Amino acid sequence: MSKMGSLAHEAISVPALRERKAAGERVVMLTAYDYPSARLGEEAGADILLVGDSLGMVVQGQPDTLRVTLDQIVYHCSMVSRAAKRALVVADMPFLTYHTGLDDAMRNCGRCVQEGGVQAVKVEGGSKRAKLIAHLVDNEIPVMGHIGLTPQSLHALGGFKVQGKTLEAAEALLKDALAVEEAGAFALVLECIPAEVAAEITARAKIPTIGIGAGPHCDGQVLVFHDLLGLYEGHLPRFVRKYGDFGAMMREALGRFGRDVREGKFPSEEEAFHLPEETSRLFAREARVAHS
Ligand code: KIV
Repeated sequence: MSKMGSLAHEAISVPALRERKAAGERVVMLTAYDYPSARLGEEAGADILLVGDSLGMVVQGQPDTLRVTLDQIVYHCSMVSRAAKRALVVADMPFLTYHTGLDDAMRNCGRCVQEGGVQAVKVEGGSKRAKLIAHLVDNEIPVMGHIGLTPQSLHALGGFKVQGKTLEAAEALLKDALAVEEAGAFALVLECIPAEVAAEITARAKIPTIGIGAGPHCDGQVLVFHDLLGLYEGHLPRFVRKYGDFGAMMREALGRFGRDVREGKFPSEEEAFHLPEETSRLFAREARVAHS
């Protein structure tokens, strides 16, 4: 069923998200990378499904997000948007897809909308992205901002570190947030910054802030699907709350399958298909003749 189907009245739009802030309703965002993760996330009530470039780490097993390509994001977006009936789907624009000029950025973001089926894109960076954000918004592509710890700046920042800890850095973050809002972004991710700074940005901005490692005062929160479900085996930052250990459950179930196969316990007679009785009798007779 399309988003124009019977669930249309429930579909979350960009303007509806802005209204959430005015109404004081929290926003729930989850990352999703494929059809099942999107279905699960949406059925669990996520308002926004972010096709995060975190897929580089949690799906591809890379050490960072920098190697994810545009083609890969488009492919993952198409799976997620096929599953989403109600949630807003946002493409996380990979490194180098919006850094080489406004035309390139427009074309690349446009692919995520046209081929990937998303309703919005996310770009990392504050004031320095204002022109880009305004250009995309002006050309009908809604944009989510992302400031603080921006993983695509990993090498420039010197690692995955909390940002905005000095007075100057905190003030710079506030300026960045307001510049992103002023440029026309509809929401803003605040990653790994002190709770006090996130609270001030949230109080000053009219667009919803969505925190990850930014304390409890944001208008919404996001976590990475694999982190919160216990499916990522790398280092988990302090701000991740693990709501389940599905990695252990999967390992245990897969192990039981392996044991059953080795011990001849899988499949059972009930799990096999059988010939009709008469065909089986004739088949056995032919087999006997063939072997005699
Ligand atoms: O790539 C991602 O998953 C993200 C979120 C953590 C905000 O950017």
